[in-house]
Amino acid sequence: MKSIGILTSGGDAPGMNACIRAVVRYALDKDMRVYGIERGYAGLIGGNIEEMNRRSVSDIIQRGGTILKTARCKEFTTMDGMKKAAYNMKVFGVDGLVVIGGDGSFRGAKEFYDNFGIPSAGIPGTIDNDLAYTDYTLGFDTAVNTVLSAINNLRDTMTSHDLANIVEVMGRHCGDIALFAGLAGGAEIILIPEKQINEEEICENIKLNQAKGKLSNIIILAEGAGNAEALQNTIIEKTGVQIRTTRLGHIQRGGTPSMADRILAARFAVRAVDLLFDDKDKKVNKVVGIKNNKIIDEDYATALAKTNKGHEDLYNVAKILCT
Ligand code: F6P
Repeated sequence: MKSIGILTSGGDAPGMNACIRAVVRYALDKDMRVYGIERGYAGLIGGNIEEMNRRSVSDIIQRGGTILKTARCKEFTTMDGMKKAAYNMKVFGVDGLVVIGGDGSFRGAKEFYDNFGIPSAGIPGTIDNDLAYTDYTLGFDTAVNTVLSAINNLRDTMTSHDLANIVEVMGRHCGDIALFAGLAGGAEIILIPEKQINEEEICENIKLNQAKGKLSNIIILAEGAGNAEALQNTIIEKTGVQIRTTRLGHIQRGGTPSMADRILAARFAVRAVDLLFDDKDKKVNKVVGIKNNKIIDEDYATALAKTNKGHEDLYNVAKILCT
C-alpha cells in the first residue's frame, strides 16, 4: 500500500501526538503518502483530509491531546455514514487507515472493512487500558502517573489532618487505572469494578487501620466501581471517620506523555505502518498491541472478543501490602 490516512478517535490520550508523529515520519521514510484526517471518522465523512509531511508533526512529541482532534461519531455507525467516508477515501486516493483509539473506534474500523472493504491497522490509544488483548494501551502509563502525583499531594495534607480521602479515577468499566495507581501509590483500599464492593469490609478495614494507628487512609475508587458520595456517607455513618472525596476527572486525560508512552507510541506506529505497507491485497483488518513486551497484531474480531485482563495477582499483592 502506498497511501494511508491517519485519524484519532474516541477519548484522547497522552501519547497520541507522539504516535501520529511516528506514523507520519516512518511511513514517509517508506515513500508512502500520509493524509491526516481531522476529528476521527467525522472528518472522514466530512472530507477534512490533508496531506502531511515531516514538518506537519514537528514539536508535538511532548504534547498531550491530539493535533488531529478527536470525536465520537454516531454517523459512522450507519451505512450511509460509512458510504460517505469510503467515497472520500477514493476521492483523496487514500488506500488504508491507521486508527488510533479504543474499542468503539476499532468496532467502527471492523465494520468499515466488513461492509466497504477498507483496510486498516488499529493502535490502542485510551487511558482506560480496557482492551484485554494488549497488556497496555497508549496513554495509560501517563494517566496512572498523573493519578500518582495527585495521591502524593493528597497524602501530605490528609496525613497532616488525620483524614481519609476517596480518590475517584477514570477508566469506564475497567479498574486498571485504580489498581495500578493504588498499588504504586500505596492506597489503603482499592475499589475496582472487577471486584464486588463490600461496604461492611471497607468500614471494618478503616476501623482496624485506626486501631493500628493508621489514621489517614487513601481509598482509590474506579469510576465504574461505585458512587463516591454514597460511599463517603456510609463510611462517615458507620465509622465516624472524617473523610473527603476528590474526583480527578479529565486532568487524567491530559499532560505530557511519559517515556513509556512515547516509546510505546513509536513501537505501535512501526508495526501499524508495516502492516499497511506490506498489504498488497488491501486486506489488513488488524489491531496492534503489546504482550510480554513484544509487539503483536491480531484481527479486530479476535482481539475484541477477549475479556479477561488477568490482574488478579496484582490485586492480591496490593491487598497484602496496604495493611
Ligand atoms: O475513555 C476515556 C474516558 O476518559 C473514560 O475514562 C471516561 O469514562 C470517559 O472517557 C469520559 O468521557 P467524556 O470525556 O466524554 O466525559
